[in-house]
This record gives sequence, C-alpha cells and structure tokens, in this order.
Amino acid sequence: MSEVRQRQKPSKSSPSKAGSSSKTTKKSSSSNARGISILDIIRVLATLVIASCGLSYYMTSSESLLWGYRPWFTRLPVLMRFLQGPLTLTPAELSLYNGTDPTLPLYLSINGTIFDVSANPLVYGPGGHYNFFCGRDATRAFVTGCFQDDLTSDMTGVEEMFMPIDEPEEVEALSSGERKKRHEQDLRYARSRIERAVAHWQNFFASHKKYFAVGKVVGLDTQEGGEKRELCKAARQQRPTRKQVLEARAKEAGKK
Ligand code: HEM
Repeated sequence: MSEVRQRQKPSKSSPSKAGSSSKTTKKSSSSNARGISILDIIRVLATLVIASCGLSYYMTSSESLLWGYRPWFTRLPVLMRFLQGPLTLTPAELSLYNGTDPTLPLYLSINGTIFDVSANPLVYGPGGHYNFFCGRDATRAFVTGCFQDDLTSDMTGVEEMFMPIDEPEEVEALSSGERKKRHEQDLRYARSRIERAVAHWQNFFASHKKYFAVGKVVGLDTQEGGEKRELCKAARQQRPTRKQVLEARAKEAGKK
C-alpha cells in the first residue's frame, strides 16, 4: 500500500519520473481493464501444449509427445545420415551390410536406392524371413517373388511375367502386322506393370516410418553375363490370360 502511494506522489525534482510513473499506472490500469495480459496468454498456451504432449504420451503408450507425428530430423540415424550426406556403394561394398557384421547397419537396395532397414532386425537381420534382401539389390525378386533364383538387379526377361497368354487359334487368325502391333502393346503394358511393382516397393521403404534412404548403389548388373535371363517358374505360372489383361486395362481406363 505504502509503495503504491509513494509512486503516485508527484515529484517536483524530476518531472520525467513523474510522467513515467503516471504512464505505468495508466498501463497497468489499462491491462487490468482488459483483464488478460500477454503473460496470461503465454501461460495458457504453455499449459495447453504441455497437457497435449502429456495426453499424447499417455495415449500413444509412451511412443510420442506429438500424437504420432515424428519429423525426420527428430530421428537420430536419419539426421546423422543427412549431415554426412548420401552414401555411394558398389555392390561389393553393399554386400557387407547384410547383418553378418553386427556393427554395421542392415541395408537393402531396390532399383539402385539403398534403404536402412536396421529398425526391423527380426525380419531383415540374420535368421529373419527377409534377410536375403539385405546386402544387395534384388529388384528382380521384388517383382517376381522368386526369392531363391532372382536375388539380382538384372531385370531382363521379367516382361514375360506380364505378357498375356493367348489362345493359339486366335493368334493364328491375325495377320503378321496385327501380331507385331499387339506384341508391342503387350510389351508396353508389361513394362508399365514392372515399373509399377518396383515403384510400389521403393515407395514402401521410402515412406516407411522406420526405414530411410541412405544413398545409391553404383555399378549394378543390369544384364548378368550379357544374356537375357529366364523367367523363374513361379513367375511364369502367374502370367495372366489375355482376358484378364483386357479387363485390367479396361478397369484402369475407367479410373482415369
Ligand atoms: C512378390 C512377392 C513378395 C514380396 C516382394 C514380399 C516382400 C516382403 C517384404 C519386403 C516384407 C517386409 C515388410 C517390412 O519391412 O515390414 C514382407 C513381409 C511379409 N511377407 Fe512378403 N513378399 C512377397 C510375397 C509374400 C507372400 C506370397 C507371402 C505369404 C506366403 C508373404 C508373407 C509375408 C509375411 C508373413 C510378412 C511379415 C513379416 C515376416 O514375418 O517376415 N509375402 N514381404
């Protein structure tokens, strides 16, 4: 009380002080009039943020303070890779990252892009169901599903997997020009299916919340031994009939 009275007392010796004191009084009285100060707003916001983080932590079973949102830079291995820059490995160098050396991360490559899949050692580590994908670029196996024969980046001959099976009588009825045209169309369709399958898996790893891209493989074999590879048996058995292809194309055209 006495302090308030002292401030309000006008001082002859320093008119500027008196002015500032009357300003302060005006300020405080105006903030009182408004009822809420900036500090109050900050306090309320801070309380809301802390409450939201706490609730998120509780609701996500101690996983996240931000309701599952985890920006890439909050993941230490991803941040470290970003700071170090992208890796460039030869196939021989990549082969070291297959889990046999526990000090190295688990890397797999698809279509030349290397992904770190160390976050899932049960699947990709030694003894894991998909350990064979690590330490190499096995793009072909991602498309054909032949996990024994096709652990390679050589994609030659995979088109056959998507080439429609024709009725022999129907093909005989076509002129050679029509056959050629149809074959070209089928080839285009088959290539688009391969691209789609590769993109699907590449996207799977790229957008996975636990995996991340680390770089590229250089010097991949795109045609091992210089010869077109045979399509594996399981993939050959998956070849569609012409009817199935026509239906699939019609469905796609309908979507566009
Ligand atoms: C083109 C064929 C296939 C490819 C390329 C493929 C690839 C994969 C990959 C990369 C994963 C690991 C996903 C992750 O990182 O979380 C996975 C998981 C899994 N896949 Fe496949 N898969 C194929 C076909 C199949 C088939 C036919 C089956 C069933 C017989 C199957 C059963 C599983 C199971 C059970 C998992 C869960 C992870 C595990 O327990 O190992 N996959 N697949």
